Amino acid sequence: MALERTLCIIKPDAVEKRKQGAILQRLQEEGFQIIGLRQAQLARQIAEGFYAVHRERPFFAELCTFMTRSPVLLIALERENAVQHLRSVIGATDPAKAAEGTVRKQFGSSVAENAVHGSDSPENGRLETSYYFQGSELV
Ligand code: CMP
Repeated sequence: MALERTLCIIKPDAVEKRKQGAILQRLQEEGFQIIGLRQAQLARQIAEGFYAVHRERPFFAELCTFMTRSPVLLIALERENAVQHLRSVIGATDPAKAAEGTVRKQFGSSVAENAVHGSDSPENGRLETSYYFQGSELV
């Protein structure tokens, strides 16, 4: 199987709880290569662009307010089967429904404040990685 790229975001709730280290360690233990890493406080326009697919959803404004309230960690990851593997490691969107041992079960507190984002398809893995990182920043 070929190497894939995927984007993980450690969201404001998890950064506020100082869980970045624990989550990065888990990603490394799961065999991901961290090929890009940056802390940022997202501008509203950047968050709205990233989540544009959800623009018509009732939670869109809440989601963008949450994602911009304090810093996030943007992480570009590489691994075989990276997209599916990251999704299984982070678990269901709603932490209450996420399996034991998943990152969202461990660190998320609600469907809105669910600790991490992970790309949902190989195409989005590429698109989302390039939304936040230039090619020269990925090593
Ligand atoms: P994420 O994987 O970042 O992709 C879209 C996000 O929208 C999702 O995680 C949740 O944090 C958020 N989301 C999905 N459904 C809801 C909801 N019903 N209310 C608030 N936020 C939601």
